Amino acid sequence: MAITFNYSNAGLREHELEQVRPQLITAYKTLMDKSGAGNDFLGWLDLCDTYDKEEFARIKAAAKKIQQQSEVLVAIGIGGSYLGARAGLEFAKGPFYNQLPNKDGVEVYFAGNNISSDYVQYLLDIIGDRDFSVNVISKSGTTTEPAVAFRIFKQKLEEKYGVDGAKERIYATTDANKGALLNLAKEMGYERFVVPDETGGRFSVFTAVGLLPMAAGGMDIDAVMKGLADATKKYANDDVMHNDVALYAAIRYIMMTKGKSVEILSDYNPSLAMFGEWYKQLMAESEGKDHKGIFPTAAHFSTDLHSIGQFIQDGARLFFETVLWVAKANHEITLPDDEKNVDGLNFVSGKSLQFMNEKAMNGTLLAHVDGGVPNLIITLDELSDYTFGELCYFFWKALGISGYMLGVNPFDQPGVEAYKKNMFALLGKPGYEDAKADLEKRLESIR
Ligand code: PA5
Repeated sequence: MAITFNYSNAGLREHELEQVRPQLITAYKTLMDKSGAGNDFLGWLDLCDTYDKEEFARIKAAAKKIQQQSEVLVAIGIGGSYLGARAGLEFAKGPFYNQLPNKDGVEVYFAGNNISSDYVQYLLDIIGDRDFSVNVISKSGTTTEPAVAFRIFKQKLEEKYGVDGAKERIYATTDANKGALLNLAKEMGYERFVVPDETGGRFSVFTAVGLLPMAAGGMDIDAVMKGLADATKKYANDDVMHNDVALYAAIRYIMMTKGKSVEILSDYNPSLAMFGEWYKQLMAESEGKDHKGIFPTAAHFSTDLHSIGQFIQDGARLFFETVLWVAKANHEITLPDDEKNVDGLNFVSGKSLQFMNEKAMNGTLLAHVDGGVPNLIITLDELSDYTFGELCYFFWKALGISGYMLGVNPFDQPGVEAYKKNMFALLGKPGYEDAKADLEKRLESIR
């Protein structure tokens, strides 16, 4: 199987895991019995069996249609309606997937995850005169950022292809029963896909939310679902001391009780940079509640060893590190020999970059452990569609368990609403008049 977990560098004493075992068993059981807080949002737990097969076939057909009609897909969404698909495409196809020759799918760009006019213009410039399609993704159908972007790209499509032509190029992924986007999609006759009620945003990448952009971009979504199914089976062992997701959850909890309030997910492959963003949302939105939680961050090595590496090695001891290591590179490149050897690198001539990268990883691991940073290592066989399916499930389940150990509801996100309300009020949305006056008064004194 593709994932292994090693905690021998976590600096744990023998009794530590044993002592949290009762809490771990309770949390594991709470998750699997679906008896805890947020249990309406556990659709991801057995998604590999319960997913809508008819819709899955429609997703594949829509991806084909996009590939036949367009060179570019603009996927519009934010948070859970954005991060998974982008993480998946970069994970499986690399950071330059849009520019690669002979790719299996269309270029996929993401919009609606910010409100920057520069960003929108750059994206319009990239599309240029080329044919494009749009997948607008919003569970609520009312989130400002994607709604703003959709209005712009819908208008561009209608100018280019007419209202009827645009209709053939717009795909709406939203709630099955309610919301402004659903109403618009029905009225305009857009093809619709569903964000299931029982699957929260950060758990939705293997619903139409992520599957359609990933399939349009050329990912094999059957392989993704197989990875998900295999991980679901692999991590079903309720003997928690022999289940890696449970052990990872327990160790995260132990770290927190020892004052390690930050987890750094570090990788050694730029294909994982967006996976780090996906992980940050998953952990932060799930655990950062009731003034508790581990703050998740990501570091990309060896790049960041030349920036925040100094702090990790020698700064305040606030954190532990979880290394995401990929055992096999998808492409082997070896260092050529150089007769003059001016750079002094001939001692590694003929070695693969993967070999060198692994030495960098091992050297860093030892240095960080020596510097007092507990290290956990999650090793993946390789980066592929299949392992993306597996790895997302690994983190989901671990997070569900550690969230319950922490005593929060890991499946809601009440904090995300606070800024939305303030933004609506400041923009002058009807119904927010009183709040607008209050906020503007406060801003006067601080800006
Ligand atoms: O995880 C979440 O639930 C959030 O990040 C949402 O996905 C995000 O706020 C976007 O919401 P929506 O899909 O309703 O536009």
